[in-house]
Amino acid sequence: MKRIFTIIAVFAAAVVSFAQPKITPQAKARAAELVSKMTLEEKCTLIHGTRNPGRDSTSDGFHILPIRRLGIPAVRMADGPQGVRNKTNSTYYPCGISLAASWNPKVAEKVGEGIGLDARARGVAIMLCPGVNIYRSPLCGRNFEYYGEDPYLAGETAVGYIKGIQGEGVMATIKHFALNNQEFDRHGASSNADERTINEIYFPAFRKAVEEADVACVMASYNPINGTHATENPWLIKDNLRKWGFEGIVMSDWTATYSALGCFLSGLDLEMPRGYVMNYENAKILLESGVISEKDIDEKCQHILQTVIAYGLFDKDHKDASIPEDYDVSRANALAAAVEGPVMLKNSGVLPIKKSKKTIIVLGPNADMVPFGGGSGKMHPFEYRNITLFAGLSNLGKGYKVQLMDWQNPDYEAIRKAGAVIMAVGYHDKSEGEGHDRTYSLPEGQNELIIKVAETNPNSVVVVYSGGEVDVNPWFDKVGALIMGWYSGQEGGTALAQILSGKVSPSGRLPFTFWGSLEANPVSVNYHISRPYGETHHTRFNNYPFVEYNEGIFVGYRGMEHFGVKPMFPFGYGLTYSEFEYSDLDIQAKPEGFEVSFTLTNKGKVAAAEVAQVYISEVAPEVIKPALELKGYEKVTIEPKKSARVKVFLPNAAFSHYDVASHSWAKDSGVYVVKVGASALDIKLSQSVPVKLK
Ligand code: BGC
Repeated sequence: MKRIFTIIAVFAAAVVSFAQPKITPQAKARAAELVSKMTLEEKCTLIHGTRNPGRDSTSDGFHILPIRRLGIPAVRMADGPQGVRNKTNSTYYPCGISLAASWNPKVAEKVGEGIGLDARARGVAIMLCPGVNIYRSPLCGRNFEYYGEDPYLAGETAVGYIKGIQGEGVMATIKHFALNNQEFDRHGASSNADERTINEIYFPAFRKAVEEADVACVMASYNPINGTHATENPWLIKDNLRKWGFEGIVMSDWTATYSALGCFLSGLDLEMPRGYVMNYENAKILLESGVISEKDIDEKCQHILQTVIAYGLFDKDHKDASIPEDYDVSRANALAAAVEGPVMLKNSGVLPIKKSKKTIIVLGPNADMVPFGGGSGKMHPFEYRNITLFAGLSNLGKGYKVQLMDWQNPDYEAIRKAGAVIMAVGYHDKSEGEGHDRTYSLPEGQNELIIKVAETNPNSVVVVYSGGEVDVNPWFDKVGALIMGWYSGQEGGTALAQILSGKVSPSGRLPFTFWGSLEANPVSVNYHISRPYGETHHTRFNNYPFVEYNEGIFVGYRGMEHFGVKPMFPFGYGLTYSEFEYSDLDIQAKPEGFEVSFTLTNKGKVAAAEVAQVYISEVAPEVIKPALELKGYEKVTIEPKKSARVKVFLPNAAFSHYDVASHSWAKDSGVYVVKVGASALDIKLSQSVPVKLK
């Protein structure tokens, strides 16, 4: 075993990693010179992809087109976010919600690094990820790709992921900008929210990606925002995104363009997958009639070229043949991430499953397959790499007797006699994914199975594969344990087996509030379920012209106190195989903010990780504010009976709100309570601090 690891280490070191590329003044000058040499037709070729299957390899709707006369290279892109897809098998990593649930940006960075390596191995220069749309309702079909309900957690996770990808010299694309929080009627329904809500909840992850990770590309979403489609929205692109300092490429989502004039003027740079509206013919008409100028087109070319130049694509072949397509480093990173994502919500003592002569039965629709969310995030791993839950448990070896059972034809006598029964349930591909919203109840037959199994054998464990909350009410009281497994990627079976057997303690925490019912979530009344559900929700436009984000800034746990509601499990919640004690809170004022420190002690018998969360609460705010806002966190692994001193820094900017009158962040001096806890409802330590900001 040792020898294999040594070889891998040497091999990994042989691959050169880059410092994250930057758009330099030289790159800008070189781009400007090229733009000055381009004809109008060439400029109009550069600003859209093309889909003309069979013509050549760049005509697949996933390339920036080459201008050979000027040496401008073709630039290949691929989805995202669970690995590199499009015409290739590749390592399948845990999905976005799993990365957020790990509460560990280093894990997201490892996944990003793996994806960056996989992309280089295939000559992919732009990855169409990460996705950071905020989780409002569990029904959104793409929650699995995203990072949960909290803008701070989403931003931290995104920054780690982007640095991982771009550190390998591959461009990341943050998407879907912005307010694409449902799949239902995603082309037509306008996301209507006020300016403060947009800035405090829906922009921060994007903004952080620009300011802290220097993300190369941004993808504008399908939906209108307050009536204007994202791709045609100068307020979104010019007045916000560019003002944050973004100098990279703004591309449209695939077919998310609706009018030529809107797209030419909005600040959108690149239309994908082809030039439906931003094409030469339309450009000529609009230029002749004087409603656009060539400068509008030059700007787009400038952004595209300066980014492509910065990433070195003019000067070298992007494909790196020294990196294997099925790479040990990528697989190791996928496993490391998969171990940290699952969240244990209930354990009556059945977990961890002890070694025994009794059989462990595994059944359910996802027991012997590697499930994934559907749509453009659907992965195609190498078949031989798929570790199903059954395979993972079987690989535990000595001391574990594992049997797979047909869930549609269960043997209840065998179930009664089993040492434990593990049910792998949830969604897969068509039942949860892009282009449609999903059901809150588990798909057909699953609740019935869980109830009957749990009534037969109390040592029953449910593992849910999903992108968010599901209806657990029919069986929650009956089962022995519940783990949210998300879509944990090709190594998920190994990771879950390690958790179920106690080799590692579960360390994931909920990245969203688990309300316990759709009605309990205050957002639901502002989500489409309050309207009749259309049958044609795949079409571009339905009859629902808008969604009002009436809950405003009170999304998820921010709404608990405001709406006077309590969830079944709060944001940040998750059990481990140990117990932690919090003590000795100390808060030191520094010029740039506050240094919060406290001691964490593992009181249990096994090593485990705690996610210590730091929230703030202003005592008498002048403007209405959520009673709790997450401003920092730290995941720490501690050996049994040992302690660690944890430090979390709260910058001055944490004490602010978005002021609509000045269109900027206002510093809010005042008295705050700093709360340190294990979830949004489990505050262990708190102290009030006077905050005086200049
Ligand atoms: C999705 C994007 C994706 C694109 C390309 C669209 O349908 O919304 O997230 O990157 O397709 O596959």
